[in-house]
Amino acid sequence: MSKRRFTITTALPYANGPIHIGHMAGVYIPADIYVRYLRQKGEDVIFVNGTDEHGVPVTIRAKKEGVTPQEVVDKYHQIIKDSLKDFGISLDIFSRTSNEIHHETASEFFKTLNDKNAFEVKETEQYYDEENQQFLADRYITGTCPHCQNEGAYGDQCEKCGTSLSATDLINPKSALSGNVPVMKKTKHWFLPLDQYEPWLKEWILEGHKEWKSNVYGQCKSWIDQGLHPRAVTRDLNWGIPVPVEGGEGKVLYVWFDAPIGYISATKHLMQNHNGTFNGNNWEAYWKEQENPADNSRLIHFLGKDNIVFHCIIFPSMLKAHGGYILPENVPGMEFLNLEGEKISTSRNWAVWLNEFVNDFPDKKDVMRYTLCANMPENKDSDFTWADFQSKNNNELVATLGNFVNRTTVLTHKYYNGVVPSKGDLTDFDIATLKELEAIPQQISNDLEQFKFKDALQSMMKIARIGNKYLADTEPWKLIKTDEKRVETIMHIALQITGNLAQFMAPFLPEASQKLNDILNIQLGEWSSTFNNDILPAGHTINPTSLLFQPIDDATIQQQKDKLEATKKENELAEATVTPEKETIAFEDFTKIDIRIGTILEAEKVKKAKKLLQLKVDTGIDQRTIVSGIAEFYNPEDIIGKQVSVLVNLAPRKIRGIESQGMILMSEDKDGKLSFISPTDKQSPGSIVS
Ligand code: 2FM
Ligand code: ZN
Repeated sequence: MSKRRFTITTALPYANGPIHIGHMAGVYIPADIYVRYLRQKGEDVIFVNGTDEHGVPVTIRAKKEGVTPQEVVDKYHQIIKDSLKDFGISLDIFSRTSNEIHHETASEFFKTLNDKNAFEVKETEQYYDEENQQFLADRYITGTCPHCQNEGAYGDQCEKCGTSLSATDLINPKSALSGNVPVMKKTKHWFLPLDQYEPWLKEWILEGHKEWKSNVYGQCKSWIDQGLHPRAVTRDLNWGIPVPVEGGEGKVLYVWFDAPIGYISATKHLMQNHNGTFNGNNWEAYWKEQENPADNSRLIHFLGKDNIVFHCIIFPSMLKAHGGYILPENVPGMEFLNLEGEKISTSRNWAVWLNEFVNDFPDKKDVMRYTLCANMPENKDSDFTWADFQSKNNNELVATLGNFVNRTTVLTHKYYNGVVPSKGDLTDFDIATLKELEAIPQQISNDLEQFKFKDALQSMMKIARIGNKYLADTEPWKLIKTDEKRVETIMHIALQITGNLAQFMAPFLPEASQKLNDILNIQLGEWSSTFNNDILPAGHTINPTSLLFQPIDDATIQQQKDKLEATKKENELAEATVTPEKETIAFEDFTKIDIRIGTILEAEKVKKAKKLLQLKVDTGIDQRTIVSGIAEFYNPEDIIGKQVSVLVNLAPRKIRGIESQGMILMSEDKDGKLSFISPTDKQSPGSIVS
């Protein structure tokens, strides 16, 4: 069979912070497993990624840190690049959208669409901050979410209930720049008329790509069924790629217009690194339609569910409008990964950051790959817990896979000085075991080709489980005393299983696979669709052995849990509700208030009113009756003689039939507990509070 060509992309992370295990589980690990598998099959693959450096998130981070957007993206590009490399994600290129080649590519793309009249240019009204003289991107507007009443919702999304919003949906919108109420102002923008692509999208996705994952297909269907509308692809902003046509002064390309073009420019960047060639092809081989459609590269986008619409509807419409480009063959979008039962949140620092993980666990990358693959949010949100990380390591990687490999290699050294023994007659059990193994490689392939990573991992682990069971059932360590010939066959078979395992685990556990291949003294072989019964021929010598995986102790896990617990505490403190400040008042208004120190002379409960006490207070002016809602916090007998602050010129009010002539001032904490406002030293009744 001739080689297939693949263009594999992972969603470009924003360069406004480090990446975390959510990115790994939903995007990088599935993509890396898939790419490693394809490479092992000998396919022609490029795997491209880079940082998404434009857009409002970057400008917000810059403002927060008091630095320029360029400084922000330079810093995080490097952090993300290093952590992906350290983690072992096998990208061919990690580019960036601030590169000249990207600006050039995106500008050209926009100009081509403009020349083809693919845009509608329209004036619309948008929120504008008059103090800062600037149009406000949706992210720069906050207000109350119309769905859940969260007062801190953004103009593009409410992070509390997850609903995506338009800035005009917000109740009481405010500019995040000045805090002022923004005004509506006219501005011109370039729109991609998605409505015109609707019939084609229906045909191409809803009819032509029924094989896409149900969560992806379902989201596309829902967007299309609701009807598509023209979408602005330019913004009034000063950070991004300038709109390269007349009338575009002061405007930039919308970040979601330029970011997916980043995949194309990253491919060009990759080719540049190789003197204009890569595997004998130029960038166009991976992006342009070929004379014979069978030769087209297969474009596969790995991403999280919030990116589905951009990659399935908007980017394909852009490619279609441009012409000459291939379209995505599949978009294996994933749902989200939670952390210890809570949504991962960059702003709340609720995450396991990749750079910190590789630092804390330099030799546990495969364990994280394994845990995240086993819990991949393929069709619904899933959860990462440190307890599960420990359990997957100790109970599966150490106890099953590692144990099987270790027993096999240790016994081979012990009985045969590391030389693979020859095989004698097979028993029915041997034959049944080998038969069970026969179909597994094809099963892994089928799963991977359908982006069923969890199933594929389980199929791979089945090889280790069968091997472990084979040794446990045949017990060569006992048999060696009575039947040496039989043990040779058992060990020969166990070694074949180990050798195959080293090949088929490679996409999932690349470091452990490399280590195992080294121990077995073989090279990583081409992916085979069948189990190889002669992968370690009799007479082959293996190398000294060592453990593939080490147990993780409770203290190590506790450290990570403590780290999260500390974050939780910090967040709770930061999120303790602060009652918003009231409107500013004039000094004259304040002077109208007459507050004096009074002494409580008498106190008794008000009948049938759980919360009320009736007090007699010496205000220095007179002795008067005041009814106060403090009965839940003070016993009448405890407060006689207490000095308190009294608002004396409050109009009298009848409370439960008793005329209250003033008000005792209380402070109330966040849990609703009341406390008197009292002078720290004794004062004469009537002393003025001002
Ligand atoms: O959601 C995100 O993090 C975006 N930066 C993804 C961009 S993907 C692509 F279009 F580049
Ligand atoms: Zn909401």
